[in-house]
Amino acid sequence: MKFKVNNGLIYFFGALGGLLFGYDTGVISGAILFIKKDLHLTSWTEGIVVSSILLGCMIGAAISGPLSDRLGRRKVVLTAATIFCIGALGTALSANAGILILFRLVLGVAVGSASTLVPMYLSEMAPTAIRGTLSSLNQLMIMTGILLAYIVNYIFSSSEGWRWMLGIALVPGLLMLIGVIFLPESPRWLLKQGKENEARSILNFMRKGNGVEDEIKEIKLANQQEQGGFKEVKEKWVRPALIVGIGLAVFQQIIGCNTVLYYAPTTFTNVGLGASAAILGTVGIGIVNVIVTAVAVVLIDKIGRKPLLLIGNAGMSISLFVLGIVNIVSGHTAASSWTTVICLAVYIAFFSLTWGPVVWVMLSEIFPLSVRGIGMGIGSVANWLANLIVSLTFPKLIEQFGISTMFIIYGIMGVLAFFFVSKLVSETKGKSLEQIELDLRNSRVENNHQNLGHSISK
Ligand code: GLC
Repeated sequence: MKFKVNNGLIYFFGALGGLLFGYDTGVISGAILFIKKDLHLTSWTEGIVVSSILLGCMIGAAISGPLSDRLGRRKVVLTAATIFCIGALGTALSANAGILILFRLVLGVAVGSASTLVPMYLSEMAPTAIRGTLSSLNQLMIMTGILLAYIVNYIFSSSEGWRWMLGIALVPGLLMLIGVIFLPESPRWLLKQGKENEARSILNFMRKGNGVEDEIKEIKLANQQEQGGFKEVKEKWVRPALIVGIGLAVFQQIIGCNTVLYYAPTTFTNVGLGASAAILGTVGIGIVNVIVTAVAVVLIDKIGRKPLLLIGNAGMSISLFVLGIVNIVSGHTAASSWTTVICLAVYIAFFSLTWGPVVWVMLSEIFPLSVRGIGMGIGSVANWLANLIVSLTFPKLIEQFGISTMFIIYGIMGVLAFFFVSKLVSETKGKSLEQIELDLRNSRVENNHQNLGHSISK
């Protein structure tokens, strides 16, 4: 039998991709300082070294979803784990900028695949009542990965050891590779393939025999009504899920999360901290992020996804508005610098509590099984594309408009996101994946009836 590991380990190994996602995207901010010197990067090649991973992420996100619908979740996660290892070695040993850029791109394919597959796999394995908690483990691992990257950066910064910074990712990569060998396939995907016995024995193992037959019945019922593939994702009844998925994915980035995260270390130096104190401050932010995300993991199945998103928008936008207005009104003073630090800290805490975890969880829940891989893939591609655009334009936009105006603009995006969520997003807490799918189908039928009634009464 493939699944000799216990339940907890299955979720842990499943979520390791999140750790590598966080590590590989977080480590470059420190490493680049030394790479720049060593490999004689121009500001142009520096930009490409930093953002080539995002391009790879888009490719990974685009291909891994549909592939996992075809080949199964497990095989694609296994491939991603292998690419993580190759990418870690390749980037650490790069002899010049060209090779480094190439391997960052390769690494991106693994990160993009993990961003699509890990939440989907976790959510398909989890029992309904704690599905949000288990799938948000992914974001907890992302944040832990970012924190580890900050710590490793700090340790190797005195020796300028950028190769170690990049190469250490091989350790979790190998751990993931070994772990995934023992992971069971998603029973939902197996049922879609008609492999009922295999699905049943995995569910029996995961649920300790509780409610397995009912769960199988429910999944099979949902399966009967679908055809799957790109055709179905374009069907009218799937469209609301697509709009919500793409909207959440894009808003998560254009409310400025990564610019605030990247800008935080610089802010510490701006308010007068020395370089090493600034790195330590950044580690501090990393620790707070992990703790707050851990709180979110507990809250997500209690409070629900939608209230968390709305609270997040309110908290983030208010802190960005205060930041912007104080800086514009009082100019560059000690008080405004400290206000900036506090506002950014509040912003990041709200993000880690809400939009960070909730978006990846909801993306894994809102699409019907037959197109879950494709739908989730479309959501992640949108997320990485928005990430790429925001990261590439941010430095130029600050130059043009100033940091305060930019943060006010991200705050306004947060207000738009608030209305988007309150109008279009439905709560998924406490519903089985099959119930969510049925609601989506029925809301289409209800709309049709309403429209029909409307035209008849005219
Ligand atoms: C979310 C975002 C990602 C960000 C991370 C940490 O996972 O999707 O872009 O880097 O949170 O803030």
